[in-house]
Amino acid sequence: MGTDYENIIASREPTFELRAFTELYLELAPLLRSPTSLCIDLSYPSHFGPSGMVPLIALVDHLLDGGWDIGYVPPEDGSHLATYWESAGWRQALDDRELPNPRSRKTYLPIVRFADHPRLNVCVQSAMDVLSTTSEYPGGVLNALQWALTEVTDNVLVHSGARGWLQVVARPKQGMVDLVVADCGAGIPATLRQRYPQIASDGDLLQIATERGTTRDTSVGQGNGLAGCLRITEALSGWMNIASRNAHLRRGDDGVIRVNTLTDFPGSIVALTLRTSEPINLTDALWGYTPPSAFEISHLTQSGILFVLENETAIYGNRATGSELALRLRNIMNENPAESVIVDFAGIEVMSASFLDEFIAKLANRVGIATFFSKVQLINKSPLVERTLNEVLTQRVRAE
Ligand SMILES: Nc1ncnc2c1ncn2[C@@H]1O[C@H](COP(=O)(O)OP(=O)(O)O)[C@@H](O)[C@H]1O
Ligand SMILES: [Mg+2]
Repeated sequence: MGTDYENIIASREPTFELRAFTELYLELAPLLRSPTSLCIDLSYPSHFGPSGMVPLIALVDHLLDGGWDIGYVPPEDGSHLATYWESAGWRQALDDRELPNPRSRKTYLPIVRFADHPRLNVCVQSAMDVLSTTSEYPGGVLNALQWALTEVTDNVLVHSGARGWLQVVARPKQGMVDLVVADCGAGIPATLRQRYPQIASDGDLLQIATERGTTRDTSVGQGNGLAGCLRITEALSGWMNIASRNAHLRRGDDGVIRVNTLTDFPGSIVALTLRTSEPINLTDALWGYTPPSAFEISHLTQSGILFVLENETAIYGNRATGSELALRLRNIMNENPAESVIVDFAGIEVMSASFLDEFIAKLANRVGIATFFSKVQLINKSPLVERTLNEVLTQRVRAE
């Protein structure tokens, strides 16, 4: 494969993350002047991450639009990498086939494309659903993730003039989450120059973009999005990368910000890797501003946070769903320590003991039965659900 193309470029990095992408892009950049045919050989890397693949897919999509003839060599058929490419939606994105359902995976959001706010909202909500059912996060973390995700993706729709690509990956074992957003639109330096025409260097413009209150247009934005993301990255000891046009800004977990040159990437890439094992005071990170809670929008009522079980799942039989919902409930409690939670069982006649054990009994036991029931009210239980729940609670308490 690849022999019919005028140009072939290959990644020689074992790990295809953002650095490998920018290196590949360096080879590609000189060809960008006019459409040609190109084959991208990705058979060598043995590991692929969203910070490499999301920008690559945004770029290929953009070049195909521009009349390019692009092929690629994927990881070997039948390998675990090939399977992962398919579940992550990378294969489909590169082949211009339908992308996977955003909710199809347990620990990550497959790559999604968004071109308007209704679609973006579905994608962000799916990402939050995936995250909140994968791990328990200390207070503030999920809100911070949602805030950053919303700001960076919103920027694509508000500033870039192009569609955006997004992927979110939870790495519970490492206690990290990756958020990667890419577009092939105007680019950050180009839009920001509208307001700061005297600043010539793209690197300086990227740095300015991450300062509080810098926006291309005060009637469009307040200029706190990228600055807030940087503050969140600092608070969560993470990494932030912004690559656009001729500059690449990175903040390492050592806290140092470095700016390197890039060869005119036709758009913007923002990649955050955040540590999710310590709590964050989001209000402090955002200079005293408290954004609405990630869960409030869908759940908050007068008397507390309403958790309508029927809206969360249709499966009440197995342990896996029970423990996912327990994580979500726990995360809601962590994010809203001052609120009480009402779990509404309405409409569900039967639930298995193993589901209720995972969903309520284990959680209640871990938090402390008294504390749990002082915070959480269970309403509209059917007689059968009530009886099963009492049984599993009694067993749990006896077992511990
Ligand atoms: N994806 C993007 N494409 C083009 N320009 C962008 C993009 N993201 C950010 N920018 C530029 O960076 C500036 C700062 O972004 P941000 O900190 O989110 O503030 P705001 O969106 O309120 O202007 C924007 O005003 C815009 O000029
Ligand atoms: Mg913004």
